[in-house]
Amino acid sequence: MKDAQPRAIYLKDYQAPDYWIDTTDLTFDLFEDHALVTSVLGVRRNEDHGEDTPELTLVGIDLELVSVCVDDTELTPAQYIQGSESLTVPVASQAFSLTVVTRIRPQENTSLEGLYKSNGMFCTQCEAEGFRKITYYLDRPDVMSKFTTKVIADKGRYPVLLSNGNDIARGEFDGGRHWVTWEDPFKKPSYLFALVGGDLEVVEDTFTTMSGKEVALRIFTESHNIDKCDHAMVSLKKSMKWDEEVYGREYDLDIFMIVAVDHFNMGAMENKGLNIFNSSCVLASPDTATDASYQRVEAIVAHEYFHNWSGNRVTCRDWFQLSLKEGFTVFRDAEFSADMNSRGVKRIEDATVMKTAQFAEDAGPMAHPIRPQSFIEISNFYTLTVYEKGCEVVRMIQTIVGKDNFRKGSDLYFDRHDGEAATCEDFVKAMEDASGVDLSQFRNWYNQAGTPVITVTDHFNPSSRQYSLTIGQSCPATPGQDSKLPFHIPVAIALLDQKGQALPLNEVGETEQVLQVTAANETWTFDGLTEKPLPSILRNFSAPVRVNYDYRREDLVFLMKYDSDGYNRWDAGQRLATEVIQDLVKGLLKGEEAEIDSKLIEAFGVVLADEQLDKAVKTEMLRLPTEASLAEQAEEIHPLQICEARSRVRKAIAVAHKNQIQALYQTLEQKGDYSPEATEIAERTLRNTCLGYLSELEDDSQQQLAVDQYRSAGNMTDLRAAMSAVINSSYQSQETIDALLNDFLDRYKNDSVVMDSWFMMQSASPSLGTLEHVKSLLEHASFDSTSPNKLRALLGGFASGNMKQFHSGSGEGYEFLADWIITLDKQNPQTASRLMTPLTRWKKYEPVCREHMRKALERIKAVPDLSTDIYEVVTKSL
Ligand code: PHE
Ligand code: ZN
Repeated sequence: MKDAQPRAIYLKDYQAPDYWIDTTDLTFDLFEDHALVTSVLGVRRNEDHGEDTPELTLVGIDLELVSVCVDDTELTPAQYIQGSESLTVPVASQAFSLTVVTRIRPQENTSLEGLYKSNGMFCTQCEAEGFRKITYYLDRPDVMSKFTTKVIADKGRYPVLLSNGNDIARGEFDGGRHWVTWEDPFKKPSYLFALVGGDLEVVEDTFTTMSGKEVALRIFTESHNIDKCDHAMVSLKKSMKWDEEVYGREYDLDIFMIVAVDHFNMGAMENKGLNIFNSSCVLASPDTATDASYQRVEAIVAHEYFHNWSGNRVTCRDWFQLSLKEGFTVFRDAEFSADMNSRGVKRIEDATVMKTAQFAEDAGPMAHPIRPQSFIEISNFYTLTVYEKGCEVVRMIQTIVGKDNFRKGSDLYFDRHDGEAATCEDFVKAMEDASGVDLSQFRNWYNQAGTPVITVTDHFNPSSRQYSLTIGQSCPATPGQDSKLPFHIPVAIALLDQKGQALPLNEVGETEQVLQVTAANETWTFDGLTEKPLPSILRNFSAPVRVNYDYRREDLVFLMKYDSDGYNRWDAGQRLATEVIQDLVKGLLKGEEAEIDSKLIEAFGVVLADEQLDKAVKTEMLRLPTEASLAEQAEEIHPLQICEARSRVRKAIAVAHKNQIQALYQTLEQKGDYSPEATEIAERTLRNTCLGYLSELEDDSQQQLAVDQYRSAGNMTDLRAAMSAVINSSYQSQETIDALLNDFLDRYKNDSVVMDSWFMMQSASPSLGTLEHVKSLLEHASFDSTSPNKLRALLGGFASGNMKQFHSGSGEGYEFLADWIITLDKQNPQTASRLMTPLTRWKKYEPVCREHMRKALERIKAVPDLSTDIYEVVTKSL
């Protein structure tokens, strides 16, 4: 029997396992309608556990039990207990071997957890708790075992058979079947297990490590995609080199493999030596991938590779420690990307994700600390908080202890815990021990949810020539945490004089200082100033907090021009634009025609004209805050007014600066072959940003520009930018739009990854992506409701990317999403659960939307037999 109601598990209840599994020998016999799994476990009692436990309980889900043997003796059903999700066997000795044979049905597994099929290929996904869908096991990360895996399958259909580690033997059977045995010399938890069987092609390369060892690199895909692996391979080699240079980490096996699969719940998975990737995160060619996808491939290849140390060699003791591997690894990949591309832009992008999506999560019903204290379903905790805020927490440690100490701390951490399952506390302790810096108060970041707010006030005393900055901190209540202890927040500041120069803040003339904010309220005093400076606060987004400081709009314009910190320069523009748009929203709600503050329009003109400004940063500065960001910062969300106000400001900028934008567009004319190199990307992005603005103009020649760019585009970046400009324009004819959509379809209907973008461009379009249109796309031949990528493109594009259409009508968009969530919950609960996010924010919306969203949630909640995934999100949300 399943529990009537799913129950939460708590970090405070953690106990080491009663048994260890030293060795795991698996044999997979793969057939067309089932797979037979034979598991031979070398089990040993955990001697640290005082009391002897007379039995061993393994977990397993959806398994057909065939037989159980203890040390060569087969047990009768009376000798073991089979629960709905467990198997309990009697134990008579300290160490024994347990053989369990189970039958599973990969072909029917639509959850994409455990062993399943994607486009005819067998593949696995075991993090977090998917291994229990393969065989009975101690499926928890603190049980680490040496795995040997034999895979047997039909040779014609599945010529390639892969698992973790090195292939040590292979052979053939009569009847066209063949087998390969893989041995992974490193102990690992079950969540890092992987297996692949399919008809795949391979791209090969090698990498020589710093100690001179040659590693074979192999990327596997279906044959029609084999020409799109070069970028992933280049990225992999760069990652391997970078991890040696920056962290001193060398790769440890003879082979490193990546396999691309189309059906995958997440981005990619770091299985030891055999990473499995969502196709969309590996494949790239100039014709099929945008600049953004190129950078995403590079970042994700790096992320998964870096997990080999931060995640695999040192893994997590339990799933409450998830941020130990994810926060740290995101930090590592962010630094890698910053080194490979534009550091300034990477910081702006990451801060944007934090400030729009993560802050929203931290302010919503699912808010949790980066180390949660409890959960019902761990799959719901692969969140922006655990990943991105976790990364920011690691970054703050680096800021506080300094770069050199950070590296010493990381060395100490890897050294101390190599081969172990560690905790977040182990990480912080290593940083503390290596640096000698006290991080006691800093640990609050691991325990407390919510986004802290710092409130800054200042005072200048001309007679004493002293300037003081007072910083207060607070943190809003979050579920289960009404009051919070003060955080240790590193706040980087500079003080600008009237010419925009940063003033020296100490004897050595440093112009930036990191204030260690630890108290609820504290004042810093700076001496010897002749005039009141303008503070530049939280430079480089030095902490994941909100900043309250009463900037006048002219101050923001000033910072946009002069702040030497790229992030703050950009942020000043975002603040200004947000205030101006908020004014318009207020006006719209009162039925008034509010004027657009000309300061913003002028400031954008200055940015456009600034020839010194780095092109990549310029592009960021020319972007208005997204609708999601405006919603996050609103007290009450009025979605339609936000869309309307933002769109008016965009048009006003285009009208005011038409000539300048046009000129800029022309000077950035593309030449030569595509390359994903940073300076070229910057030019393309800027040019396409200009195109977006020009398409706001009611002017035939401007409208023609996008169509011409579509026709002449030499790469996917320019093609897609043109397509979006056309689709989102209110001045294009339906005929033109349809012609382009059909042309795109013709060219790319066989490329699943590109087709995702075809669906997404439409579902996320405020003009084209109506509910009716989205519904019609569900019927399209290229749509596949078993593919998480397609669902994310079409349903996610609509519900998370199309504020105007999703929230218009009388709640029909919400009902539509709710219907899909209910259907998908039976098929793939993880994907269903991720689609819930927009509805969970219902309390922040204006009353009409709010009530409709609540009803949609209530309807989901009333469905019998919800998955733990949906159950947790819906009950916490209501
Ligand atoms: N561990 C993966 C990563 O961050 C993410 C993932 C989690 C993938 C769960 C699949 C399932 O790299
Ligand atoms: Zn990860």
